[in-house]
Amino acid sequence: MEIKRIFENNEKWVQEKLALDPDYFINLSKGQNPNFLYIGCSDSRATAEELMGMQPGQVFVHRNIANSVVSIDNNVNAVIQYAVEVLKVKHIIVCGHYECGGVLAALNSSDLGQINSWLSHLRDVYRIHRKELEAITAEKKRFDRLVELNVIEQCINITKIDHVQRSWYSHSLPKIHGWVFDVRSGRLIDLKFDMEREFNSIKSIYGLMPGK
Ligand code: CO
Repeated sequence: MEIKRIFENNEKWVQEKLALDPDYFINLSKGQNPNFLYIGCSDSRATAEELMGMQPGQVFVHRNIANSVVSIDNNVNAVIQYAVEVLKVKHIIVCGHYECGGVLAALNSSDLGQINSWLSHLRDVYRIHRKELEAITAEKKRFDRLVELNVIEQCINITKIDHVQRSWYSHSLPKIHGWVFDVRSGRLIDLKFDMEREFNSIKSIYGLMPGK
């Protein structure tokens, strides 16, 4: 019954689109030219297109548990490389969300099997920012702050990627943005990630282009 409903919804959606523009799907089939790559959490509440008011064709999307960018993850690497080199997106957005189950699991001792190794990257973020996080006495506030710091760290991880650095040196794009979706209010919060400042501060370690 639940599945049947999805196909009914789909038919309704097709008819709505066609009523507005009979060529809608013909045009959609011609190709995509999105300006944005959105990297978000797999959480069912933190959608990509819907919360940004975007339509099919406008956002290239990658989602995983806790919106992580891990350098040896072939999947996220392929998505970012394709977005940067082929689609030539102007913006990469890392969007975390408050009440993130992945972040909460990493905050506590929890043995989740296969997920442990994935969450260990989140525990790394905690370790890097331990001082700041442990100075926050309210548990909820500490949880929220780890969500934010995780977004910033994943933005930093994007600056370390070779094809991203190459793209900057050739045409100063893409810009990287760190956002949090506040699931309690529905609002998007811009953490104002300063790509240039952050990269300049770690360039001597992660810069891959000699002489740049
Ligand atoms: Co989440």
